[in-house]
Formats: sequence, C-alpha cells, structure tokens
Amino acid sequence: MKKNLPINSIKNVDCLKFIPELPDASIDIIITDPPYAISSGNKLAMKNVKKQNGFGGDWNIIDEEWDTFSFEDYCTLIEKMLKESYRVLKSNGTMFLCGTYHNIGIINYFALQTSFNIINEIVWFKRNAFPNLSQKCLTASHENILWLSKSDSWNYNYDVVKQTEYSFDRLKEPNKQLRSVWDIPNNKKKEELAYREVFPDKSYWIRSQKPLRLIDRCLEITAQPGDIIADWFCGSGTTLISAINHSLSFIGCEINPKFVEVIQWRLKEKA
Ligand SMILES: C[S@@+](CC[C@H](N)C(=O)[O-])C[C@H]1O[C@@H](n2cnc3c(N)ncnc32)[C@H](O)[C@@H]1O
Repeated sequence: MKKNLPINSIKNVDCLKFIPELPDASIDIIITDPPYAISSGNKLAMKNVKKQNGFGGDWNIIDEEWDTFSFEDYCTLIEKMLKESYRVLKSNGTMFLCGTYHNIGIINYFALQTSFNIINEIVWFKRNAFPNLSQKCLTASHENILWLSKSDSWNYNYDVVKQTEYSFDRLKEPNKQLRSVWDIPNNKKKEELAYREVFPDKSYWIRSQKPLRLIDRCLEITAQPGDIIADWFCGSGTTLISAINHSLSFIGCEINPKFVEVIQWRLKEKA
C-alpha cells in the first residue's frame, strides 16, 4: 500500500525503497543530483584527472564509497529511479537532473526510454572550475542539468525570470530572456558551509554540494505557490533549503546517515 507523502521531512533510506512507497501523481517538481559514478575504479571514472596536490591545495576529486558502482548497477539505479520519478510526478510536473559529461548521456537515454520529454539541457558554466592539473585535456568548465517534463504541459515563469537581474551571471541581462547556459559561480555562501563547523569530521562533508543559487534558479523558472518539491539524493540538503527559502513544501531521502544528520541540523537552523 502506498503511504501518504512525508511532507517536510528527510528520510534516511535508499531512494529505490523510498520512491515506490509514494502515491502516483503526487509531486510537482523533482530536483535531484544522483551519484555521477566517477570515483576511481568505475568505468566512468576520469582517466585524465588524478588526485593531486598543487596550486595551494589537495584537490579532492570525487572519490567516495557512495559513488562507486559497476556500470550495470549504475544504469539500473538510474533506470529504476527515473521510472519511479515519472510515476510520482503530477501530469504537469517537471524534473531537473544534474550530471556531467560522464553520466548525463546515460540519464538522457533512460529519460527518453521512460517517456520523459526533454524541455532543455542546461549548461551550468562554472567559471571557477577545478584547475586543469593534468594538462592533457580541455579544462572542464561546465556541468549539465536536464530539465524534463512528464507531458507537453508544464509551467515556465517566463516573465519573472526574464525580468530578474541575477547580477552574478554575466550571460543574463535584466529584461532579456534566460538562456540555457547559466553562469553561476560554484562558491557557496558562508551559511551553506556552516555545518562543517558543527561537524568537523570530514566524513560529514558533502564534497559534491551544489551552490544554493543553482537550485534556486531551477525553482524560480518553474515553481508555483503550493508546489511540493522532492529530492532523492539529498546530500547536504540544498534542494530542501531552497524549497524552504521559496516557501514551498518538500520531501527527501538520503542513504548516508551522517549526511542526514547534516540535513537535519540545516533544517533546524532554518526553522
Ligand atoms: C551528488 S550527491 C548530492 C549532493 C547534493 N545535491 C547537495 O547539494 O549536497 C549524491 C548523494 O546521493 C546519495 N546517495 C547515493 N545513492 C543513494 C541512494 N540509492 N538513495 C539515496 N541516496 C543516495 C549519496 O550519499 C550522496 O549524498
């Protein structure tokens, strides 16, 4: 039997157990950032970037247990997660999925197989991207976000985003249409990283944490008052914090109990 929506809460559970318990057509917007499966040893791992010291730091590429998959297991996770996401979205609902050149093709393939419509592929231009330490390839300076819809009807806050200034974005002028390339610095504000003082043990730090400004923009282009926002791979809880900042309801799950502690702390700070 399907449960009611656990509104405004975070659950410490595998998303493949969490989503199947949710009712059909109950969510307005899903914003989620699955593992990229690029940690060392994975088929999709970066072969041209190794963990290296230099340029003032131990540049810590993503090399995490939660990001380690066989290629087949990764495809299964993405396929099942997308099928269930499609089921729980309302008919005019939309979904944002973050990725990089390593995994976005896999997400794109399974999204189409699941009958999602691709509204846009957004290029998140990261002007302060990871330095090109290997000097064997172009400096990777962007990530991708697929914006998907369940049907051919969805909400786009065209006028609002057209008028918005987004002063930090050198590609967006006030009163000009918002393009699919977003210039959003990856820097996090002090309050976004404040949990690191409360949890100094680095196993609590979410290295793939997205800047709030990126998720805020996803909500600003499509959310409407009363919407319910979901995230299946919450990490530090960026999507949930953005939903609160926009006076929207949320649901979320995260498999790592330490990250759930971080999220619970962040939610309490906002209360
Ligand atoms: C790329 S990170 C998300 C980062 C997040 N967007 C943020 O801003 O902090 C992916 C997260 O998915 C979690 N995860 C991995 N597999 C999962 C699963 N099957 N169900 C739920 N969470 C999972 C990981 O523990 C990790 O925190």
